[in-house]
Amino acid sequence: MDTARIEEVVGDFVHLKKRGTSLIGNCPFHGEKTPSFHVSVTKGIYKCFGCGKGGDSVRFIMDHEKYSYPEALKFLANKYNIEVEETELSPEAAEAQSAKESLYIVSQYAATFFVKQLWETEEGRGIGLSYFKERGFREDILKKFEVGYSPDVWDAMTQSATHAGHKLEFLEATGLSIKNDNGKIYDRFRGRVMFPIHNFTGRIIGFGGRTLKTDKNVPKYVNSPESEIYHKSNVLYGLFHAKKAIRDLDNCYLAEGYADVLSVHQAGVENVVASSGTSLTVEQIKLIGRFTQNITILFDGDAAGIKASLRGLDMILEEGLNVKIVSFPDGHDPDSYMHHVGAGAFRTYLEQNRKDFILYKANVLLKDAGTDPIKRAGIIRDIVESIAKIPDPIKASVFIRESSSLLEIEEHILLSELNKMRSAKLKKSFEGNHRVAPSSNPKPYTSGPPEPLGPPDDLWDDSAGPMGYEPQEPAKEEEYQEKEIVRLLLAFGHEFVNWDKIDDMYIGPFIMQNLSDVEFDDPLCKRIIDHYKSEIDNGRLPTANHFVKHEDRDIADLAITLSTSEYALSENWLNKHLIYVKDESMNLKATILGGIFHLKKRKVEKILMNLLKEIKEEKNEDNQMILMQRYGVIKGVEREISKFLGSVIVK
Ligand code: CTP
Ligand code: MN
Repeated sequence: MDTARIEEVVGDFVHLKKRGTSLIGNCPFHGEKTPSFHVSVTKGIYKCFGCGKGGDSVRFIMDHEKYSYPEALKFLANKYNIEVEETELSPEAAEAQSAKESLYIVSQYAATFFVKQLWETEEGRGIGLSYFKERGFREDILKKFEVGYSPDVWDAMTQSATHAGHKLEFLEATGLSIKNDNGKIYDRFRGRVMFPIHNFTGRIIGFGGRTLKTDKNVPKYVNSPESEIYHKSNVLYGLFHAKKAIRDLDNCYLAEGYADVLSVHQAGVENVVASSGTSLTVEQIKLIGRFTQNITILFDGDAAGIKASLRGLDMILEEGLNVKIVSFPDGHDPDSYMHHVGAGAFRTYLEQNRKDFILYKANVLLKDAGTDPIKRAGIIRDIVESIAKIPDPIKASVFIRESSSLLEIEEHILLSELNKMRSAKLKKSFEGNHRVAPSSNPKPYTSGPPEPLGPPDDLWDDSAGPMGYEPQEPAKEEEYQEKEIVRLLLAFGHEFVNWDKIDDMYIGPFIMQNLSDVEFDDPLCKRIIDHYKSEIDNGRLPTANHFVKHEDRDIADLAITLSTSEYALSENWLNKHLIYVKDESMNLKATILGGIFHLKKRKVEKILMNLLKEIKEEKNEDNQMILMQRYGVIKGVEREISKFLGSVIVK
């Protein structure tokens, strides 16, 4: 756990930026354009203030990769080269191993088989390897991408895999083996060079196989079908090998094919991925968005193709990413151009021919329209439509200005067009939202502020200001106060009390002692408090970490929420009492005593309310008198608490 540092584990999947004392990024668990995903390096945990997900390194991998706990541990162990010793699996246990894992295993087996064929067999070397060599691919690139060769034999791979003990069931589930109508098994990939497709954690999930025949009737590529482990819409070819460079260079080149990715890599440009023949999906854009906000599309040369794919790119703008375009001279794709001009010239070309998407689009369309006024009007609408997709208004206005001069149209005309489109879009989304979920629903505090605003920048800063969460229902107040106690225990339980008139002791036991007469109503808080108490009774002082890593997921979730939302709770009622504590750790006494006595006051108020009800319902006058006396005494207690609160907190 110490080795698997949260920022490194999360950093493999999320583009993190430093802000205040924590790192922030766009949450990988829900779609968002303004980052509300926070990573605390010191606490070793992450928390999204948009969707509420949070946890430690293991939890992140479990949630992100949909792994079980042991799978996540194995994943992390593998990442850090830590050997996990396992007792040998019994045949039954081996059988029981998750099917999904088996699909990964057979895919890896096949990849290794194809690689061996390419490098170590006569057919592989003579046909496959020499093909790659002829195209100018270097050996290190071929090895890096684990390209292989599938022999031109009916069932070579299937035979080899089943002899090695792999089950046909899994070979079929990945599509590597196919059963025909007569029940005969054969290989999907035969006589092709093989490109294994990795998911972005590096596991092989599918293949693309390119034929070496020039016969037009043979499909150029045969690809793995969708499977339990291969979902084409959220996979980008090459991402595993590119992600580090994408993050470091803060840009992702997007090409079309396997060959392009290999060639661009070979030119020394490693931040490149391919959508592999399918049209780009929102999931793929989001995937890139985890690493960088900048996409540069590498377009093939032909003009018709470019025009056709322009519209698809609006989707990237809509996701809030910046789009640039590099197109290649007629007839060339990135692969052919790289081999044509060589690595150095290719790199220079990429640098010098990067154009902004919207201006590029305007240029392409304008060239097409010539002087036809109707066509030109259409283009203007088309361009403004693209600009309207950009979520950031400042960025959008820059594009309006630039397009204005390019299209020779006054800026205010473009702006009014933009505003029309914007308000139409807003109206639509409002109507949409209204039907699904009325926005009057009070949000529970755990879900954070509404998305568009995002949490305040300094949320995790220990000197943070108020979060502005208001409890919506008075009935909830008690729950908030109980949670506040848990939060204080987690945050300050280990600190030492040395306030006058109070014996030296830790804050944890101090709080527990002072609340020994208070019954917690919220079941989850009660569980934590009871647990805390029994730990103390056994001579241990539990840490926040103890609860954050608790095996009970509800407890861990609450602990994470509470230890990541400083002030979230206390502000609610401190504000209510018109008291504002700027830094609670500086005024720890007020914070702790405030927490304890506000809860006590609340409990007393509840007793008073119940007494009042009893008094009203009591018919017997003597009994009524007794109840009223008791009411008077307890009312006095309430006043004392209020007075006490006033004196400690206003200080
Ligand atoms: N593709 C496919 N099936 C085809 C043709 C193409 O799945 N019949 C996909 C492949 O993922 C391919 C991508 O579309 O990589 C781009 O196609 P293309 O440019 O034709 O392939 P390249 O990878 O560039 O292959 P090559 O340069 O070897 O022709
Ligand atoms: Mn190509």
